[in-house]
Amino acid sequence: MPLIAVLPGDGIGPEVTTQACRVLEALDLGLAFEEAPVGGAAYFSDGHPLPERTLDLARRADALLFGAVGDPRGDNLERHLRPEQAILGLRKELELFANLRPARLFPGLEDASTLKTEVASAIDMVIVREVNGDVYFGEKGMRTTAGGRREGYDIMSYDEDEVARIARVGFETARVRNRKVCSVDKANVLETSQLWRDVVIEVARDYADVELTHMYVDNAAMQLVRNPGQFDVILTGNLFGDILSDQASMCAGSIGMLPSATLGRSGKGLYEPIHGSAPDIAGQGKANPCATILSAAMLLRYSLGMEDAADRVEAAVTAALVSGARTADLGGSLSTAEMGDAVLRAL
Ligand code: NAD
Ligand code: IPM
Ligand code: MN
Repeated sequence: MPLIAVLPGDGIGPEVTTQACRVLEALDLGLAFEEAPVGGAAYFSDGHPLPERTLDLARRADALLFGAVGDPRGDNLERHLRPEQAILGLRKELELFANLRPARLFPGLEDASTLKTEVASAIDMVIVREVNGDVYFGEKGMRTTAGGRREGYDIMSYDEDEVARIARVGFETARVRNRKVCSVDKANVLETSQLWRDVVIEVARDYADVELTHMYVDNAAMQLVRNPGQFDVILTGNLFGDILSDQASMCAGSIGMLPSATLGRSGKGLYEPIHGSAPDIAGQGKANPCATILSAAMLLRYSLGMEDAADRVEAAVTAALVSGARTADLGGSLSTAEMGDAVLRAL
């Protein structure tokens, strides 16, 4: 019986994972669920954002369903105790390095996008974001300069093996889509990015059937709102992928719609919406659960090989939206649970 680790976290995390679990349970697939705390919730219950018992569950589980972490009460803790360390720690500890963030415009959500309908309706891309390296995991700290001024620093780096393995994921992803990879970097300024570009070009020799282009990240941010339909797979590093995926989500209607899968060498994966704990709406039943429900669909597809069940969940979300079900971020008035009800009815 496949074991799913359910890690609700903070803010709207528990609200949206509840709905995703309802959907998974309704499919009656014989899955076992076990819950553990992460983030601020774990810090306040266990004294650490990623307690040993949570890590133990994560290691035992076949797949992880993650809500969100982040709590304003944690913002002044020492860095290693902050809620966000839970997600960073899971990605790193389990060597889940490939974060797949599909963005597409669901039928009927044209009005939710801030872009013109003809621009938004062409959105159908996957952002393949590296999440084990980059400036996130380099040496960092605060120091005092010779002149007695405070200075913060974070070292950005990628080694060639890290770039090559994520590049392969990018090309493989493109192979089952429209065979186009746009590698996004800042090679005009950063050595980290120059190596990135060189290695992506080397790896591309094994994927002659995939078209490779390169784009600087500032231009990519602009192109995402000018003509997002040009992108099939965006391949990029940790920091750029973080920023561009939030932007892509709004182009496609709402940050409440974008799921993600974080994969490594084994079948185990971490599945989470791309959004955070949304403290501004937490506890009010306003959160859109679709990103998390769609993350559960990715879990079924990538970690459990249950393609049909994954298709059913995605079709149910589509049908619920087509029938007019909308949370506030999509311009509607349904609560989180009512949106979950609508998806379950469609299922
Ligand atoms: P956020 O994604 O939490 O929220 C940004 C905005 O989008 C807010 O106005 C929020 O209300 C809205 N929003 C987000 N998800 C929504 C949903 N499902 N339905 C409707 N509206 C939604 O980003 P933030 O405000 O910058 O960060 C809040 C906290 O979350 C911080 O502590 C941050 O570090 C953390 N964070 C965690 C993750 C994660 O756990 N993977 C991701 C991003 C941010
Ligand atoms: C995300 C989040 C995380 C990240 C934070 C919470 C560490 O923004 O998953 O997009 O930057 O990777
Ligand atoms: Mn983010």
